[in-house]
Amino acid sequence: MEDRPLAICFGTRPQVIKASVLIEAAAPHWPLLTVDTGQHYDYEMNAIFLEQLGVGRPSHFLEVGSGSHADQTAAILTRLTPILERVEPWAVIVIGDTNSTLGCALAAAYLHIPIVHVEAGMRAADIRMAEERNRRITDALSDLLCAPSHIAVRQLEGERQPGRVIFTGDIAYDVLCQQGPRAVSPAAIPGWPLPPGAPYALATLHRAELTGNFAQFAALVQALDALDLPVVLAAHPRIRALLDQCRLSSDGALRIVPPLGYLEMLGANRDASVLITDSGGLQREAYWLGTPCITLRRETEWCETVALGANLLLDPDRAAGELAAAVKERLARRMHSPWERGAYGDGSAASRVVSAIREWATP
Ligand code: UD1
Repeated sequence: MEDRPLAICFGTRPQVIKASVLIEAAAPHWPLLTVDTGQHYDYEMNAIFLEQLGVGRPSHFLEVGSGSHADQTAAILTRLTPILERVEPWAVIVIGDTNSTLGCALAAAYLHIPIVHVEAGMRAADIRMAEERNRRITDALSDLLCAPSHIAVRQLEGERQPGRVIFTGDIAYDVLCQQGPRAVSPAAIPGWPLPPGAPYALATLHRAELTGNFAQFAALVQALDALDLPVVLAAHPRIRALLDQCRLSSDGALRIVPPLGYLEMLGANRDASVLITDSGGLQREAYWLGTPCITLRRETEWCETVALGANLLLDPDRAAGELAAAVKERLARRMHSPWERGAYGDGSAASRVVSAIREWATP
């Protein structure tokens, strides 16, 4: 079995980042087939992470690009299938909850290739969210479910998933632990819009739930612009055109910059007074880095961060009116003693995933 390759699939920004540690941990044990679906394809959303994190050139690029959920998932399914038929990996690893996750899992499932789902068992109540559907279907198709938290383990056990469930911790924490010493301080980031040492809030927005309602999006951006401290907004490509349509004052708080590289984002998040985001990845990174976070959602899959006091949920319907008070509360939180940081394991999740695969694959 071990002469045949193990496939590792990724395609969006957070998946490229997380795949880096899985590839490193798996490479000594099996030949690897690395598949980049190309769901995110701009240099600043994909290739920069391959370079910074030493991922190397993937074996296959599917080049699916932008499109509807149906178009992307279908393109991944039809483009990956002939590759899997030809190369015959003995198992396929998928990560997270994107269209790439689901498309690659379906391709493997139709060919009866065992599936390993990394970041299994995350749940939100809102089933209309595409990511929620993707992750539930992927969990149901998977043979080995690697859960980043103990709550996720209990969730999967409660659902009586047919695959084997194990706790591994979060591979995103492995990346942060490994790359932490290389974090780039804001003063060294080309184009950083503030003088060295100036305090700031860091912001990112990208989810369809926020960008789909322009009036709400514009009100939120105006509330960011009206804050008392500078706000550096690292703008995901999805919101660039929307930002152009928002009326902003010339002397407001907002400083809009392009998406940052991983090492630059790590430094910017670490040094921020507060993070304001709808990103799943950045919420956890703020939790590990000790930066208080405001998450612009009604719920989060990463509920431990809220329970531990690191993260505050702000309903997007009320965010414009309540943001200033929430920031004030978070700035005060920064002064308090730090929260406990072990909710998602100890930074050795990738090697736990690999050990679990070896144990599971040994007859
Ligand atoms: C979410 C989606 C995921 C989608 C992705 C699109 C959910 C549950 N998940 O993941 O399906 O593919 O958005 O982007 O909705 N980062 C940078 N530079 C930046 C901003 C972020 O390096 O300018 C890094 C962060 O440090 C972190 C990762 O990217 O490691 C987070 O990626 P993000 O794009 O925010 O995705 P998620 O919200 O985690």
